[in-house]
Amino acid sequence: MQKVILSLLAITGIYFVSCTSESGETSEICFETEVRPIISSNCTLSGCHNSIDKVSGYDFSTYEGIMHAVKPGDHSTSELYKVLIHPYKEKPPKPFNPLSEEQKITIAAWIEQGAKYNPNCVSKPCDTTSVTLSRSVRPILNLYCGSCHNSSSPQGGVDFRTYENLRIYIDDSTLTYSINHINGFAMPKNSSKLPACEIGIIQKWIALGAPNN
Ligand code: HEC
Repeated sequence: MQKVILSLLAITGIYFVSCTSESGETSEICFETEVRPIISSNCTLSGCHNSIDKVSGYDFSTYEGIMHAVKPGDHSTSELYKVLIHPYKEKPPKPFNPLSEEQKITIAAWIEQGAKYNPNCVSKPCDTTSVTLSRSVRPILNLYCGSCHNSSSPQGGVDFRTYENLRIYIDDSTLTYSINHINGFAMPKNSSKLPACEIGIIQKWIALGAPNN
């Protein structure tokens, strides 16, 4: 596995920032908690690769759909990765933010590891002690709700970039409804629910009064 990292480093010229366990072994990248959120947050927006619009024939709202753009074990020939680094076809297109280098590496490494649907894969223990907005909740919103609600062209006009804006959806309870898929609300849009751990962290922060900490 070290070899994979080295070749990724060589190809992309960027650092492999995560995915190494304490023992120094590269750990398995989890589809549900690491790969799916990046793809559903950035590629399944309306007018893009969701089950209704299927732009270019791609529906990235399911694992099977994603696999149509993946050659397991070879990220450099996988369409899913190629468009991320393409000089002028870079995805997602403007005005959406491009993926971060870390997100590109996560996708590349997952493909190199065989692009497995590994439902029992555990990426990290669930820590719900001392939950704060900046350390616990923001990273979840960035990963799962990402370019839809954190950009200058927010989907549905719902913009989470400032605390005041985020507070609107806490106070009217739609944040709680949407992550729990209740009362007709369901987010992330066109994707499955957040993992139980992530929902628990957000709920705990809201229960503490949703402080701006
Ligand atoms: C693929 C794009 C996309 C992603 C990812 C996404 N949303 Fe949304 N969100 C929308 C759109 C579009 C709307 C407008 C309502 C609709 O079309 O369902 C919306 C509306 C909302 C609303 C307002 C209530 C409502 O449903 O009208 C809340 C709250 C919300 N989203 C929370 C979230 C949270 C929390 C996440 C991440 C866990 C998330 N969204 C991820 C696209 C997205």
